[in-house]
Amino acid sequence: MLIGASAPRPILTHMNDHHPTLRSNGPATPTSRRYLVTGAAGFIGSALARRLLDEGATVVGVDAYTTTYDVAEKRARTTSLLRRPRYEHVEGDLVDLPLAEILDGVETVFHLAGRPGVRPSFELEDLYRHDNVDATRRLLDAAVAAPSVRRVVYASSSSVYGDAPLPFRETRPTAPISPYGRTKLEAEEICLAANGPALETVALRYFTVYGPGQRPDMGLRRFAEAALAGQVVELLGDGSQSRDFTYVDDIVDATRSAADAPAAGLAINVGGGSRITLLGAFDILGELLERPLDLVFHPFARGDVRHTAADTSRARELLGFEPRVSFAEGYRREVDWLRSRIPVAA
Ligand SMILES: NC(=O)c1ccc[n+]([C@@H]2O[C@H](COP(=O)([O-])OP(=O)(O)OC[C@H]3O[C@@H](n4cnc5c(N)ncnc54)[C@H](O)[C@@H]3O)[C@@H](O)[C@H]2O)c1
Repeated sequence: MLIGASAPRPILTHMNDHHPTLRSNGPATPTSRRYLVTGAAGFIGSALARRLLDEGATVVGVDAYTTTYDVAEKRARTTSLLRRPRYEHVEGDLVDLPLAEILDGVETVFHLAGRPGVRPSFELEDLYRHDNVDATRRLLDAAVAAPSVRRVVYASSSSVYGDAPLPFRETRPTAPISPYGRTKLEAEEICLAANGPALETVALRYFTVYGPGQRPDMGLRRFAEAALAGQVVELLGDGSQSRDFTYVDDIVDATRSAADAPAAGLAINVGGGSRITLLGAFDILGELLERPLDLVFHPFARGDVRHTAADTSRARELLGFEPRVSFAEGYRREVDWLRSRIPVAA
């Protein structure tokens, strides 16, 4: 059962025998803009879908519920989206879904589906290739052929830069150092190569995204969950590594703007401007919890870059991007969200 008893019941239809489609039971608004969000059950995709629904748009979400982390968390996001009017959800893999049918009437595609995470990518390269490269190639082929689709906005990653000199600039060469980074770069190239008269494409290079709803495999959430549970906080590295953390609402702002901005054919950095070392993040976490953290350090992980920092001039100029949430404020909101959902040690 996907939805609570008190909520409007979604209508179950079928794309075909293998792909159930759920439609929220809200009033139809035939004039509203129709968007496709791939990876709509994910951390960022679900936040973007909420934003588009808030605007009054119709949103078609697609997600395969891959098992990269607790699938119940992904399904809960879909359940919550289905409570909103004008949300339709198709369950399935982009590699074999009937995409021409799904894209019918869609104006903009926000392609956020993918297999994230640097560390597992060394062992699972085939799966990363499937979800990041094969899925993107098939989606772009279908988008080029779909008469209604005007633009595809792709969620690329700062991982395409590897350990490049700071700050990372779009005009500098890319040099990914993990299979994850390489598959994100290949997918980005597929998207940008498809830019032309039939279809416009934009690739946004997201820098570590955090905030309420963050993926459970990501560092800031793991650190906060451990600390809240009174457990040791384990870190790969000595804490001197730094990240240009980007608050989820700021990423959603940039992604939404990329649908209409004069940015066709470009890769654009989206970084929050809140670069901080992990030791700095631990200080803030300790202050938020009003207790010292019990830290344990392990060797650096393969594929983890030492530092990231985005040059966001292009995003500011073309997307009107202006990150609004500081790291201290954003992490406080994430910790408050975690406190509301996990038992806290006495
Ligand atoms: N979170 C970050 O810090 C970050 C940073 C850089 C780039 N990105 C990119 O942004 C996107 C969203 O990231 P997220 O953190 O929300 O991840 P997420 O794992 O929460 O969401 C991705 C979703 O895509 C779905 N998916 C994967 N392969 C699919 C396929 N073949 N067909 C259909 N659905 C599929 C998954 O089930 C998942 O729900 C990803 O492409 C990721 O690479 C994220």
